[in-house]
Amino acid sequence: MSAGTSGLSRRALLGGGAVLAGTALGGGVIGHAVGARPGDPEGTGAGGAEGAMPAREPVAGPGAAGRPGTQSVHGAVTEPFWGAHQPGIATPHQAHGVFLGFDLARGSDAAAVESLLRLLSDDAARLMAGRAPLGAVDGQLATTPARLTVTFGFGPGLFDAVGRPEACPPVVRQMPAFSTDRLDPRWGPTDLLLQVCSEDPMTLTYAQRRLVRDAADFASLRWAQRGFLPARGSEPDGTTPRNLMGMRDGSANESDPAQVASVLWNDGRALPWLAGGSQFVLRRMRIDMATWDDLSTEAKEIGFGRRVHDGSPLTGTQESDVVDRTKVDDQGFPVIAPNAHAARAQARSAAERMIRRPYNYTVETEKGLEEGLLFAAYQADLATAFVPVQRRLAEADALNAWATHIGSAAYAIPPGAKEGSFVGATLLRA
Ligand code: HEM
Repeated sequence: MSAGTSGLSRRALLGGGAVLAGTALGGGVIGHAVGARPGDPEGTGAGGAEGAMPAREPVAGPGAAGRPGTQSVHGAVTEPFWGAHQPGIATPHQAHGVFLGFDLARGSDAAAVESLLRLLSDDAARLMAGRAPLGAVDGQLATTPARLTVTFGFGPGLFDAVGRPEACPPVVRQMPAFSTDRLDPRWGPTDLLLQVCSEDPMTLTYAQRRLVRDAADFASLRWAQRGFLPARGSEPDGTTPRNLMGMRDGSANESDPAQVASVLWNDGRALPWLAGGSQFVLRRMRIDMATWDDLSTEAKEIGFGRRVHDGSPLTGTQESDVVDRTKVDDQGFPVIAPNAHAARAQARSAAERMIRRPYNYTVETEKGLEEGLLFAAYQADLATAFVPVQRRLAEADALNAWATHIGSAAYAIPPGAKEGSFVGATLLRA
């Protein structure tokens, strides 16, 4: 563990339950639409947090690198860390994300877990505000957070370590098996998850490095799963990002803030500590892109039930139109095939809704480039949303011919932290 310039170790500063210094950021109300980037094409900071650092003016003409066009500079825009809900959930999707799965050190107890969570909460708050974490000698790379968010998730092992096994949602302890699973234990459940997202891959890498380093006394990194969306600026902010299959992905996510809230936040009835929190599943899905690329546009659209060029459902004209599973053509056949992905996935009840926040991934392997999707989804209860939807997809989804589930990990997502407290306080201090 690194020592700060004061000579005090981070552990001494934070591990003993010291009150954390707050940041200049207040509030915590997340008011953005989900599934879209903030409506902030000028980089004014309007899409970021209240109290966000001022963004620089857009720069016209060739930049220092001699690139043509108009440039929007938004590196200084921040998202709030403290608040009723954690960031990175209802926050507009940033272009880059990494999911970090940690195992707690053997023999960890509640005191060790609290020290770790206090330390990482402090790191997250500082990094998200564009400041270096405590103990960093030089924090230059922290100064462009570019809407950095850090989101914490708890796996079964963390509940056991803190002596609260009953506080783990049963579906997080044991995700049911699905018939199409081809899971590699390498990408399996861990004790702790950090989801780190930013518009800037440099910032993301710096935050990842510092978080992993500061956690090292208490937990080791089992896996890091990194993904990306189209670069910010290649399409107007607010455009639903495409996945590697070329489809707009996220069109059906709720965007009305009240609806988003009803999908995401757990009411705490079954587990009071989880009130204002959420539940999360990460599924690593390898996609056979070579055979997909060779399909006609029409065949792709039949497979998804939506159009490639604008994401509209085959039963409508706008991307925002709802997929209509009942509509038939002149011959009486369904316009959208019953096994089309969007038809199978569409929620059959309010309890089945989820907010998807996926990232594309690529990995160079000995066999060539592996491509896929890090399917990432938040919902109040995995047991009533992800599980029935995935069961339906496993039974008959046109996409199953190309996409294979090779990793799965689920987490309880604690509510947000009050300024000066830490993420997980409602579990550890209950
Ligand atoms: C490689 C895997 C996957 C890909 C490439 C993919 C892609 C897409 C695309 C392009 C759409 C249509 C646009 C949209 O509404 O966002 C969609 C819809 C959707 N997908 Fe997936 N998806 C994948 C896996 C999954 C999984 C595993 C689930 C959940 C178990 C899921 C749940 C949904 C839901 C709920 C919708 C919205 C359906 C609606 O209400 O219209 N997807 N997906």
